[in-house]
Amino acid sequence: MVKLSINGTVKELDVDPDMPLLWAIRDHLDLTGTKFGCGQALCGACTVHLDGQPIRSCQTRVGDVGDGKITTIEGASGKVAEAVQAAWRELDVVQCGYCQSGQIMSAIGLLSSTPKPTDADIDSAMEGNICRCGTYQRIRAAIHDAANRLG
Ligand code: FES
Repeated sequence: MVKLSINGTVKELDVDPDMPLLWAIRDHLDLTGTKFGCGQALCGACTVHLDGQPIRSCQTRVGDVGDGKITTIEGASGKVAEAVQAAWRELDVVQCGYCQSGQIMSAIGLLSSTPKPTDADIDSAMEGNICRCGTYQRIRAAIHDAANRLG
């Protein structure tokens, strides 16, 4: 049995502690906004927050989360998350959408620690999030737009 604090509630899961966190999120909690991409922490599609920091859930053992607080795209809230979501809509960032929950979770993580990121800050924070549709320019513009919305 593994206890998991996720999106503000504590869940008890009857799973192997060695299971990837991503499996627990998608298959046991039915939170399917977080995507499986490469399974090797190389693409960022599975990005969630652990205590506010972006992590790759495909390479995190569910048993290693401990008392940490997990937030998925479904639970993203607060003014930074709202600004990011508004900017993403305004700039029509999404193409196929597969990578985008991971992109948004990384963007929220960046803006939470760096409210006015430079292009270099954005490139550095977002380089682990791959977009096969090539929406990188819109992602960068949307992060600047979200920063402006936050004042
Ligand atoms: Fe299609 Fe990024 S929007 S992979």
